[in-house]
Amino acid sequence: MAVVANAEQERFWNEVAGPVWVANEVELEDHTRPFGDAALRVADPLDGEAVLDVGCGCGSTTLALAHAVGGRGSVLGIDLSGPMLARAEQRASASAAGRTEFRRLDAQVADLGAAAFDLVFSRFGVMFFADPAAGFANLRRALRAQGRLVFCCWQGSSANPWMSLVNRAALQEFDLPVPPPEGPGPFALADAARTTALLQSAGFGTVEAHSDARQVHLGRGQSLEDWVHGRLLMGPARQPYLDAPPEHQREVLATIAGQLVGFLADPEDPEGGLMMDGAAWVVHARP
Ligand SMILES: C[S@@+](CC[C@H](N)C(=O)[O-])C[C@H]1O[C@@H](n2cnc3c(N)ncnc32)[C@H](O)[C@@H]1O
Repeated sequence: MAVVANAEQERFWNEVAGPVWVANEVELEDHTRPFGDAALRVADPLDGEAVLDVGCGCGSTTLALAHAVGGRGSVLGIDLSGPMLARAEQRASASAAGRTEFRRLDAQVADLGAAAFDLVFSRFGVMFFADPAAGFANLRRALRAQGRLVFCCWQGSSANPWMSLVNRAALQEFDLPVPPPEGPGPFALADAARTTALLQSAGFGTVEAHSDARQVHLGRGQSLEDWVHGRLLMGPARQPYLDAPPEHQREVLATIAGQLVGFLADPEDPEGGLMMDGAAWVVHARP
């Protein structure tokens, strides 16, 4: 692949999270879609527009954008993850949506062309830059003067117990420190004032961040333990969890699942999934 500034993230999304994401696509799509749809409404892609989908993953938003811009428009999906892009290609070839193209690129440093896009969009794909100022400046260069950048990113851990509860419990189980929230990761852009300042320094004149808070439905059709297992495989305690003897793994799963019982969507049906609070920022920035 071309130049990469985020080698650690590249490894993570190719070897760790990407394959888990592809295997759990339906479940993950279930709870990210409502936030992405809110961002798509703000982005309001129009017939004939050229769109860049940053960190497009398995291509769900790329296809939605392609549908909106139609045959006269185009959508380029970029991502670090080979397995997720392969899935995106597969979905695009089976879809009747408009023109799509996928490339394996690091959005922070890739040459995306100057003023090439009317809309730069991302659903939870811009929180992983080692240098977010450089990443947003690179996206700004790719945007036309009248264009817009629209993305959703997670608010802080306390607004997202659906993610933080399992991660915190796992870190505690393995006696690990909590990673700093502003490093590359899901909570990197949780501070809207900092994100606004980053975007302004990257050349965006107008920046608005709207809160989108909702209940998220998780783990439908899975046992609590299976759902927790999937989360642990993508979380900060992945390695010690995988290295633990099977008996200890089972204990960890049972302990964390026990903490989630109060969130069951239907207490009569343990496979009916969890309903938990989640909150994202929908950010709209213009040059
Ligand atoms: C949380 S996933 C979201 C995927 C997809 N947008 C979705 O909503 O289903 C984050 C995605 O961003 C990608 N990503 C992370 N850092 C990136 C970078 N520097 N350049 C391009 N993609 C990146 C990851 O590979 C991953 O597919």
